Amino acid sequence: MKLVSMSFVEFQSCHLLLGMAFALCFNQVSSTTNETDRVALLAFKAGITGDPFGVLNSWNNSIGFCQWYGVTCSWKHRRVTALDLSSQRLSGSISPHIGNHSFLREIWLVNNTLDHEIPPQVGQLRRLCHLRLDNNSLVGEIPKNISICSNLVTLVLQGNRLIGEIPGELGSLSKLQAFENRLSGIIPSSLLNLSSLAFFYVGQNWIQGTLPTSIGLTFPVLEEFSVHENQLEGLIPPSISNCTKLVLLQLANNTFSGKVPSFENMHKLQKLALDYNHLGSGKAGDLNFLCSLTNNTKLLKVDITMNKFGGMLSKCIGNLSTTLTHFVAWGNQINGEIPEEIEKLVNLEILNMDLNKLSGVIPSNFGNLQNLVALALGGNNLGGTIPSPLGNLTKLMALDSHGNNFHGKIPSQLSNCQSLYYLDLSHNNLSGTIPPQLIGLTSLTIIVNLSHNHLVGVLPTEVGNLGALTALDISDNLLVGEIPSSLGDCTSLTTLRMGGNFFHGSIPQSIKSLGGIEEMDLSCNNLSGQIPEFLTIFHSLKVLNLSYNKFQGMLPREGVFKNATGTSIIGNNELCGGLPEFHLPNCIYKGSKRRKINIIILSKKVNKPVSSSIDDSCPNVSYGTLLKATDGFSSMSLIGVGSFGFVYRGILEGDGTIVAVKVFHLVRCGALKSFIAECEALKNIRHRNLLKILTVCSSTDYQGNDFKALVYQFMDNGNLERWLHPNPTSSHSNELPKKLNFSWRINIAIDVAFALDYLHHRCHIPIVHCDLKPSNVLLDAQMVAHLGDFGLVKFLVGSSLDVVVGEILVKCFEVDKTFPSI
Ligand SMILES: *[C@@H]1O[C@H](CO)[C@@H](O)[C@H](O)[C@H]1NC(C)=O
Ligand SMILES: *[C@@H]1O[C@H](CO)[C@@H](O)[C@H](O)[C@H]1NC(C)=O
Ligand SMILES: *[C@@H]1O[C@H](CO)[C@@H](O)[C@H](O)[C@H]1NC(C)=O
Ligand SMILES: *[C@@H]1O[C@H](CO)[C@@H](O)[C@H](O)[C@H]1NC(C)=O
Ligand SMILES: *[C@@H]1O[C@H](CO)[C@@H](O)[C@H](O)[C@H]1NC(C)=O
Ligand SMILES: *[C@@H]1O[C@H](CO)[C@@H](O)[C@H](O)[C@H]1NC(C)=O
Ligand SMILES: *[C@@H]1O[C@H](CO)[C@@H](O)[C@H](O)[C@H]1NC(C)=O
Ligand SMILES: *[C@@H]1O[C@H](CO)[C@@H](O)[C@H](O)[C@H]1NC(C)=O
Ligand SMILES: *[C@@H]1O[C@H](CO)[C@@H](O)[C@H](O)[C@H]1NC(C)=O
Ligand SMILES: *[C@@H]1O[C@H](CO)[C@@H](O)[C@H](O)[C@H]1NC(C)=O
Ligand SMILES: *[C@@H]1O[C@H](CO)[C@@H](O)[C@H](O)[C@H]1NC(C)=O
Ligand SMILES: *[C@@H]1O[C@H](CO)[C@@H](O)[C@H](O)[C@H]1NC(C)=O
Repeated sequence: MKLVSMSFVEFQSCHLLLGMAFALCFNQVSSTTNETDRVALLAFKAGITGDPFGVLNSWNNSIGFCQWYGVTCSWKHRRVTALDLSSQRLSGSISPHIGNHSFLREIWLVNNTLDHEIPPQVGQLRRLCHLRLDNNSLVGEIPKNISICSNLVTLVLQGNRLIGEIPGELGSLSKLQAFENRLSGIIPSSLLNLSSLAFFYVGQNWIQGTLPTSIGLTFPVLEEFSVHENQLEGLIPPSISNCTKLVLLQLANNTFSGKVPSFENMHKLQKLALDYNHLGSGKAGDLNFLCSLTNNTKLLKVDITMNKFGGMLSKCIGNLSTTLTHFVAWGNQINGEIPEEIEKLVNLEILNMDLNKLSGVIPSNFGNLQNLVALALGGNNLGGTIPSPLGNLTKLMALDSHGNNFHGKIPSQLSNCQSLYYLDLSHNNLSGTIPPQLIGLTSLTIIVNLSHNHLVGVLPTEVGNLGALTALDISDNLLVGEIPSSLGDCTSLTTLRMGGNFFHGSIPQSIKSLGGIEEMDLSCNNLSGQIPEFLTIFHSLKVLNLSYNKFQGMLPREGVFKNATGTSIIGNNELCGGLPEFHLPNCIYKGSKRRKINIIILSKKVNKPVSSSIDDSCPNVSYGTLLKATDGFSSMSLIGVGSFGFVYRGILEGDGTIVAVKVFHLVRCGALKSFIAECEALKNIRHRNLLKILTVCSSTDYQGNDFKALVYQFMDNGNLERWLHPNPTSSHSNELPKKLNFSWRINIAIDVAFALDYLHHRCHIPIVHCDLKPSNVLLDAQMVAHLGDFGLVKFLVGSSLDVVVGEILVKCFEVDKTFPSI
């Protein structure tokens, strides 16, 4: 990011020069009369086609032309000396008659929309000192014979559509060389006719070609030279070193290339802008010119952004004038370490070295740069920690060190930077927690980006202090806990990114205050609960990503949810409703909060679902992985025997997740059907009280036999059957806690009821388990019950759910006699 661009120098000193210019513009006896002026002014008026303010109405014969608006006459001869019609929205062309004002010293036609060419008759104006045609729509070339205006001090043509070259007559390479060759180095005086030119501004045009090599000799008193935003190319002429009066050198946004000459004689230089060119070679030595600036005691700003400068920053940078406030060098190929000597530049306000190849560390003595306002070192190869002395920079407003290899903690001392409004530490290896003092720093208003690090812990509630912050990005870290409700106090947020963490719980109601939000990304967390209705009234919200969470219930259909492009909700398996584009199952309870839980009478004429490929339903795991995880399906890993196969306990390589692996005995009748049924059933459903299927293995074993297995969450407390009817001989029995007490039994029954309610009423197609028994009820570490074994499920395609029989706690036990009374 470019934090600061160099602005144009105002022409304050121009008026000081008028005195000098007057001396230069000595009066000459002229054969023309004041009638010539009058006729020429009327011709000028005739060339103007648009005059919305009517300023030229006064240009009529009822008064003398010296009283006409914008016209100034000499006191003695009553001849026109200045024409100032700036900012009058004039359109049309500049009449060639302008060349007839032989006493004219100043032309100001700034900020109009004059088009056509600059009339070459301007070349007749020998007394002209100031020509200001900037910010018009002039086309064509700069008239070659403008060089006749030997008294020209100010030439400002910036902001037009001029093309061609800077006229060779201003001192071109070819001419100069030709003369040198023939005349043995004597420079013809004709080329020095513009030797009084001090201000040369032709920026923002379409000028092509090279700079005159003789520039330093042709324009010896040049103070400000600005040719930015043109199509100039070639070298910066080394002769420019002879422009010893230069204060501003503005060459930005051209295609200058090659080596930058020495600036050692430019003792008055304040601003050097070489940004956006093709300068340098990407190799060592490119930055030698910086050392030539060490005697320039007035230096304020150096901008060499977006060039091809390579090599290292020399320690001599510490010898630059302490007046330097801006050093901007982003987007080059500068390598090596940042010299500690920079600390000597005590007035430095902007230090921007983004997007280079810097290595090493941030020198901790940077804490001495007490005037630093912006420090940007993003996109380099810097490492080490972010030095805590940066907290001493009380004027710091922007700190950008994204995209490096910084590790360690974010120093809490940064919260002493009480002016900080821009903080980007993203894409590093930062660890530890988010310092509450820092995330509560009220000055932070533009952006806080801590994304793509390894930050742990919670998002501190202090985040609520950021009432003026526009963008918060903490995505892709290891953050946990709930979304603090204080986040609702960040009412200026337009961008909120929290994806890729471990946040859980529901979206707090307080978020309702973030009505100006445009982009919200909460994806890839463990968030649950309903999707809040208030998101539909966020009118600025254009991008909403809630995917890969555990949101439940009905997806709203209004506001951002009307746009299936802007909204992403995939990977939330308990959502229903919404627009058809989201492909969610219909919601069964349309808004009613019925507490009654119903069951369905099984119909004999149930249609089987159209069997689809299981491959796209669950991500696959290989046979080898499961073989390893279960210690070769060893008997030590065996934890259960079911009707269609064995269940093993396994530890997945990599993240060490403990899983239960159900291997289907495919030779057994119905086992394949059972596998497909289970995979199909679990494909689209997910509920707290249903056993979660993690992955599936559908391949062949090492003997080439078909091998099918399902991998589940491992349930620490086994199945309910074991608790109800403990096997006294089992080696595991001593691990079981005493007995199921009453509240556990009630809770288990409620859990199972919720699971059935979900299967029967909240799935896209109602599902009947058909094999409900204690051995299929699994208990996790918290004794939460999860219904498992979906091998016999039936899908009630086309069935009416009005087939209601009664309350599940009563009826379920009647229907399924195998369920124990508790
Ligand atoms: C001529 O100029 C005078 C003085 O500015 C003005 O009052 C008058 O309206 C102008 N006449 C016309 C015809 O525009
Ligand atoms: C032009 O000059 C004539 C005579 O030299 C003089 O009478 C007249 O007033 C002048 N006009 C203006 C507008 O100054
Ligand atoms: C031209 O317009 C700019 C922007 O509005 C303004 O700052 C400047 O003073 C104007 N220049 C002149 C000479 O009127
Ligand atoms: C004024 O300039 C025009 C156009 O350049 C020219 O045709 C005309 O002869 C000049 N008039 C006088 C009186 O010099
Ligand atoms: C150019 O002139 C217009 C008015 O004609 C003004 O609004 C605009 O700001 C000017 N631009 C610059 C860069 O001065
Ligand atoms: C500059 O060129 C124009 C047009 O060719 C001409 O009228 C004018 O006399 C020339 N000026 C000089 C001083 O030669
Ligand atoms: C430069 O000025 C000299 C007088 O100092 C003059 O003789 C010569 O014609 C001018 N050069 C050009 C290119 O017109
Ligand atoms: C500076 O000007 C002197 C003559 O005044 C000349 O000898 C020298 O070569 C010039 N320097 C450059 C770099 O052109
Ligand atoms: C140069 O171009 C860049 C990118 O287009 C722009 O942001 C910058 O303002 C320009 N700078 C100058 C001085 O023209
Ligand atoms: C700076 O000035 C000193 C003293 O005049 C001189 O010795 C040195 O060479 C100069 N350095 C540069 C880079 O111009
Ligand atoms: C700078 O910060 C460091 C650590 O944050 C502290 O020990 C030191 O005293 C500070 N120095 C100054 C000059 O404030
Ligand atoms: C839907 O959202 C996308 C992405 O934000 C946007 O490009 C598109 O214009 C939106 N469509 C409508 C109809 O609002």
